[in-house]
Amino acid sequence: MRIFLVWIWILFPGCWALTGPHEAKGPLGGELSVQCSYVRGYETYIKYWCRGTMQISCHVVVQTSDSEAIVKQDRVSIRDIRTNNTFIVTMKNLTEGDSGIYWCGIEELGWDRMFSVKVSVLPAVSASPMPAPEKEPKVDATCMESPCTWTVLQVTESNSTVHSSDPSAR
Ligand SMILES: *[C@@H]1O[C@H](CO)[C@@H](O)[C@H](O)[C@H]1NC(C)=O
Ligand SMILES: *[C@@H]1O[C@H](CO)[C@@H](O)[C@H](O)[C@H]1NC(C)=O
Ligand SMILES: *[C@@H]1O[C@H](CO)[C@@H](O)[C@H](O)[C@H]1NC(C)=O
Repeated sequence: MRIFLVWIWILFPGCWALTGPHEAKGPLGGELSVQCSYVRGYETYIKYWCRGTMQISCHVVVQTSDSEAIVKQDRVSIRDIRTNNTFIVTMKNLTEGDSGIYWCGIEELGWDRMFSVKVSVLPAVSASPMPAPEKEPKVDATCMESPCTWTVLQVTESNSTVHSSDPSAR
């Protein structure tokens, strides 16, 4: 039975410090860009792009501590545009191996601000089916800090019964 996991976030202001797209797609051999936005006050912090399923064990692909300058690491670049509180990550010459879970991150003493982005590299030929969805649900750990709570809804395809559970009530 296919189960769709729908993560509903009850958001608190602290969780909005860093936001971005939940997924990004680009064609094989092509490029894709991800824009992450942060709230005022984080302009001078180091911004980075990190790869790995787990927030704590991901490895930094590229990072910047500059304003405006484009920082490149092989096929990946990052640019922090402090004037509009955005940093843009661009991945070029995409290969299938580039697909995976990445994080937009802001280095902060104590606990980095992070936002997960699922990157998918699509076959260069158009009109292709989507890549198979990941079996394991990925937990967006952006809001793991204490004031944040979240609710999981499991929707079964067969009869649309909604089971809800609240893991914060453990
Ligand atoms: C991307 O591919 C093009 C064409 O193959 C090549 O000229 C270019 O150097 C590559 N860029 C990077 C950053 O690898
Ligand atoms: C911020 O500015 C850059 C460069 O002008 C632009 O590409 C980007 O779309 C802007 N982002 C937002 C969220 O306004
Ligand atoms: C929906 O499916 C679940 C499990 O398959 C079952 O327990 C439940 O009775 C069903 N509800 C309805 C309204 O059919």
